[in-house]
Amino acid sequence: MSMSTSDCAVVREGFPRPFPNTPTNVLEQLRLTGKVVVITGAADGIGYAAAEAMAEANAHVALWYNSNDTAVEKSRELASTHGIKATTYKVDVSDPEAVQKAIAEVVKDHGKIDVFVANAGMAISKPILEQTLEEYRKQMAVNVDGVLYCSKYVGEVFQSQGFGNLIITSSMSAHIVNVPVDQPVYNGSKAFVTHFGKCLAREWRDFARVNIVSPGFFDTKMGASPQTLQEAYRMSSVGRQGHVKEIKGLYLYLASDASTYMTGSDLLIDGGYVLP
Ligand code: NAI
Repeated sequence: MSMSTSDCAVVREGFPRPFPNTPTNVLEQLRLTGKVVVITGAADGIGYAAAEAMAEANAHVALWYNSNDTAVEKSRELASTHGIKATTYKVDVSDPEAVQKAIAEVVKDHGKIDVFVANAGMAISKPILEQTLEEYRKQMAVNVDGVLYCSKYVGEVFQSQGFGNLIITSSMSAHIVNVPVDQPVYNGSKAFVTHFGKCLAREWRDFARVNIVSPGFFDTKMGASPQTLQEAYRMSSVGRQGHVKEIKGLYLYLASDASTYMTGSDLLIDGGYVLP
């Protein structure tokens, strides 16, 4: 895009917008009192850590799970420990009707959605020459279609509310291909959601923020396979996997008023694996 000095003088109607009416104390900015946060893939791993972070900051939480119904018991614990409302929804994110229905249920149960964490994902880590088309479609259905369905239907809610905040869990593998295992489909699916999230930040600029979290190797069910762990240790600057408690602060930051000037950002949290 070319721009001349005369273009700079054009006044944009309604701009500048006012600064947000948020606290100046950063710890107060991080409080989520009264906010409603939805997290997909919330039964365990990174998703549950994010849910825990939100509840600890006093948000009401809606935990979406697919197969692991320990989410139900975990949500009861979050509610009683933190004095917040916690609800659970069994949703296969690759099913657009189920996603649309669950979003409507959350709005019915909680009255609104302030933050949506599109975190559910899966990997079948194989080189393309060994991967079946069915395996390819399965990963795309969850990692790409699932994020798209969640974004589309929660975006409608954000637009009608006039506010919203979407956080997408991508991966450092959207940044580099030399992870220890060949997994072009998974890496490609994450590259899609990273770019998609940035596009939404622009499309939704009048009513919602959108940011992307790109984790490196975290110790979860999906985390690095035993045969690739040594390489993960060798390549990450801190020499180990991440513990999920080490990613809670990033999701909380993005969900909170501490990050009101941040949208369209892709935040790497990888123990220094991807270095320029
Ligand atoms: P995880 O396996 O513990 O969590 C993935 C969650 O997604 C599970 O709760 C699973 O039930 C859910 N899920 C899978 N298919 C689903 C479907 N069709 N519908 C609804 N939910 C579904 O693994 P982790 O590590 O917590 O993964 C969370 C996100 O972080 C994923 O998007 C993953 O790609 C991403 N990630 C993880 C990394 C790691 O090293 N652990 C590295 C980079 C990204």
